[in-house]
Amino acid sequence: MLLAANWKMYGSPAQLAAYCEELLPQLEGCPHQVVLCPPFPLLPQAVMLCAGSEVSVGAQNCHWAREGAFTGEVSPYLLAEMGVSWVIIAHSERRKLFGETDDTALARAKAAQEAGLSVIFCVGETLAEREGGETLSVLQRQTGVLAGLDPQKLVIAYEPVWAIGTGHNATPAQVAEAHAFIHERLQELTGQAVPVLYGGSVKPQNAGELLATPGVAGALVGGASLDAGSFFAIIQAAPVAGAKG
Ligand code: PGA
Repeated sequence: MLLAANWKMYGSPAQLAAYCEELLPQLEGCPHQVVLCPPFPLLPQAVMLCAGSEVSVGAQNCHWAREGAFTGEVSPYLLAEMGVSWVIIAHSERRKLFGETDDTALARAKAAQEAGLSVIFCVGETLAEREGGETLSVLQRQTGVLAGLDPQKLVIAYEPVWAIGTGHNATPAQVAEAHAFIHERLQELTGQAVPVLYGGSVKPQNAGELLATPGVAGALVGGASLDAGSFFAIIQAAPVAGAKG
């Protein structure tokens, strides 16, 4: 399974050092793939601390150009050169708060893959969309742009917006339905099976059940990933069948 920690805009150098000191020794021989995504300025430290460990490092966004006059943006080529191997694209906070669209998200994902990064591409419906019976049509639209991407360097994260940071995770039945739909879509669009993670209020208490749900290949964890102990408990709850080969 793939377990990714999305630190969002939290953390500090001291926190990262303590986190890695606690987590990395516990992960020796871990059968799962673990990705740590701290804020941009902490990436070099994370790459250094995680070198030779079971943990890969990811960014939380990147631009679609190699370089240029784009003040405040970060090139995927720079990330790759620095030893970052993953990037989260189209997180719902980017979509909702920073104007990310399906098309800009696709441009970022394409450039990231061209730079050699693997992409965790986020999709998911809002509460109003779910209540309006539009969940599957939203997922259909959000995944519709993905046909041109390299399926070998692509993971989808199904993150219902209403479940993110709210403490209300989706039920296994809701997760199973969405994951089955996304699997079918990605197979249709890319000709290959693409892993689908679940994200949204994953915690040590619900991780076992969510990760055992059919079609779930891992988790994208926000709040509960900030504490090394609770992220490790989530990793430990992941079933070993279907782990990285
Ligand atoms: P959460 O966030 O685990 O805090 O709900 C998940 C995410 O935003 O990726």
